Amino acid sequence: MRTKVCIIGGGPSGLLLSQLLQLNGIDNVLLEKHSREHVLARIRAGVLEHGFARLMDEAQCGERMQREGQVHHGFFIAHDGRLDRVDLHKYSGGGSVIVYGQTELTRDLYEARDRMGGIVIHEASDVQLHDLAGDRPSVTFRKSGADERVECEFVIGADGFHGVSRKSIPAGVLREYEKVYPFGWLGVLSRTPPVSPELIYVKHERGFALCSLRSPTLSRYYIQVPLSDRVEDWSDDAFWDELKRRLPPEVAARLITGASIEKSIAPLRSFVAEPMQYGRLFLAGDAAHIVPPTGARGLNSAASDIYYLSRALIAYYKTGDESGLRGYSERALSRIWKAQRFSWWMTKLLHRFPDNGDYDQRLQQAELAYLFSSERALGSLAENYVGLPY
Ligand code: APR
Ligand code: PHB
Repeated sequence: MRTKVCIIGGGPSGLLLSQLLQLNGIDNVLLEKHSREHVLARIRAGVLEHGFARLMDEAQCGERMQREGQVHHGFFIAHDGRLDRVDLHKYSGGGSVIVYGQTELTRDLYEARDRMGGIVIHEASDVQLHDLAGDRPSVTFRKSGADERVECEFVIGADGFHGVSRKSIPAGVLREYEKVYPFGWLGVLSRTPPVSPELIYVKHERGFALCSLRSPTLSRYYIQVPLSDRVEDWSDDAFWDELKRRLPPEVAARLITGASIEKSIAPLRSFVAEPMQYGRLFLAGDAAHIVPPTGARGLNSAASDIYYLSRALIAYYKTGDESGLRGYSERALSRIWKAQRFSWWMTKLLHRFPDNGDYDQRLQQAELAYLFSSERALGSLAENYVGLPY
């Protein structure tokens, strides 16, 4: 098989790029390790920047998101006996975010690929990347017992943190930066009305909690748990009891609980690999960087990579201009590191760190007290949460 761009990974990054390239006449083939059902069964975050929404519109996949997504102009932070609201609209100069689940967004992208007759190969196993340093790279894989090869001009590694692309770069080329946090998030999805129309981030002495939502009838809640906890240890009742303990009493009193539809524990990690390019391989999304979910930056950071990368590839194929491709890694990383900083700051602000002494806890309180007493501090939080410009 021959194509211009071979994309590895059928998550939001790979699908969005595939769609944008085809709309600009650039042939591409997408290889995904799992079945579509498997990919669409994953529950991930759901807060989108408007820059992401614009890219979805440009990719002709934004219609359902515009219709069903909820625009949020603020969120709450519960801390130290208070429930303070961050007015995103006021403090970011008119900004907001769109609450729309990543699972739904991924479904929209798959449906758009189907409509355009895009080549998406599921259950591609043993994917291997070849000749990345030359100008005729290729990708081999197995599908239904047969060996296949894609000959291409560029390879895009959009295969997430555990994918094969980043690992195919020779040792010594990449520099990796990592911070692993000493706790995880236990998340529950339930078919219950959300406790609040806007998200509530909770800092509590028993640990962080988050009340989020997917729709007026579907809620998503999280609690911070030790890394040693296993999901089997947490019955639904134990989860709701612990969540209620951490919520402000007036919020706990109106929480409607129900059976969990999904329950999982995610570790928290910060990670960046530099540069995001090796020869004809370009990395995008979780393949190159991870943030803890506290600032809702993960999916949005993937989107800005795809913005820069789609522009660069389109310019290259339309005019032969290579400058966008040469500058991709630097441009993408400059925004990525700001999202890293913000995610780390939100995580540090709101979680209970097992090694923190009294002094650190008082500092955390002072940081929150300062935040809600300073319009400039709120402005900084709001402009990062709605998304820095591309
Ligand atoms: N070959 C082919 N596909 C692979 C391989 C491989 N060796 N390894 C992984 N994949 C696939 C995964 O099955 C997954 O569907 O690559 C896809 C990567 O998708 P994501 O992990 O969703 O990563 P990305 O598309 O960059 O999405 C950005 O934003 O909210 C965050 O972490 C969240 O997934 C989210 C991310
Ligand atoms: C979610 O709804 O899953 C969610 C929302 C905001 C976050 C993280 C996760 O910061």
